[in-house]
Amino acid sequence: MTTEQPNSPQGYKTPVGILGVGHFLPEEIVTNADLAKFVDTTDEWIVGRTGIRARRRAAPDQATSDLAVAAARRALEAAGTSPQELDLIIVATMTPDCPMPATSSIVQHQLGATQAGGFDLNIACSGFVYALVTGAQFIAAGTFRRVLVIGADVMTRLMNWQDRSTCVLFGDGAGAVVLGPVAQGYGILGMHTGLNGAGGTSLTVKAGGSRLPGWSEGVEPGDKYLQMEGPEVFRFAVSVMGEAAIKALDHAGLTSDEVSLFIPHQANARIIEASRKRLNLPPARVFSNVEHYGNTSCGSVPIALSEALAQERIQDGDLVVLVGFGGGLSWASAAIRWGGKLKE
Ligand code: ACO
Repeated sequence: MTTEQPNSPQGYKTPVGILGVGHFLPEEIVTNADLAKFVDTTDEWIVGRTGIRARRRAAPDQATSDLAVAAARRALEAAGTSPQELDLIIVATMTPDCPMPATSSIVQHQLGATQAGGFDLNIACSGFVYALVTGAQFIAAGTFRRVLVIGADVMTRLMNWQDRSTCVLFGDGAGAVVLGPVAQGYGILGMHTGLNGAGGTSLTVKAGGSRLPGWSEGVEPGDKYLQMEGPEVFRFAVSVMGEAAIKALDHAGLTSDEVSLFIPHQANARIIEASRKRLNLPPARVFSNVEHYGNTSCGSVPIALSEALAQERIQDGDLVVLVGFGGGLSWASAAIRWGGKLKE
């Protein structure tokens, strides 16, 4: 029998938490100095405007599923879950291996997770947090017990290496979590999702879909790559990041002064700093690794979560807030009481 949990999203009869986390980054490190060799930029400009010093680049034979599988194996190990126990796999990505089959299908096969269903979820850089709260619904409803949620992107494949305003910002990587039931009072206590379709044109990859197939005659070289109205996206990000965190906290009946660690999407150190101030948090309660990896899109939040755990920045009982934002324009957030693992 289940009991009402006052501090949980409506309908969450079963509290849902993160049982294990893992991440994977490709080996090659590309520094700002490396980029300055072929594009008109400087280390000083990139660090000053973004806080980014380096990013990772996938090898030519590495696709999104390769990064996703490596991250997933680590998350499964951390959770003590076997691939056979998985009921569902959600891969959040905007750079699938190919239009079909879905990357989740490739991941399922590689993991040998033969009992799991799966699907991909694409809402740009917000994808991981969207996928997290989506996967949680299946467990909250009592339908599933183990859901693997992966955020993975090979953003370097979408870069126009002649466009200095975008190619310096992104990198490749993947992070994964295993979701399952946890004790009352733990797990995802609040969540929020949002979308402003009117702003969709400020962050685009125009070609490669049904409106402008990649092979179509009208495709301009730049249409295959990510294009961004940087200042517009910057203004959106600064306003939405803190607000999204507050909405998830409100949903849980909590306030920002109770947050132990804020893990925002790692797009730009200035955006992270603005949201830190909006939430009135000391620097020690905000996690950032944007300096090392740039914006890894769907990989960003779970990689940061995984590193925060490895650095012992999160303890059982802590209140952790995750926020993603990105193309769409989209955003999603979750307030999580860490721990509460059940003995099964
Ligand atoms: N090196 C040197 N100069 C550059 C570079 C570069 N890499 N890039 C742009 N510049 C120049 C511009 O050409 C411009 O020069 P001008 O004044 O002579 O025209 C000048 O720098 C200022 O450009 P702005 O775009 O106004 O610079 P801004 O301070 O806004 O910083 C940035 C640009 C870093 C892109 C910022 O706007 C930003 O971070 N935006 C948000 C990005 C983001 O969060 N994206 C999330 C994507 S999530 C997803 O879903 C994919």
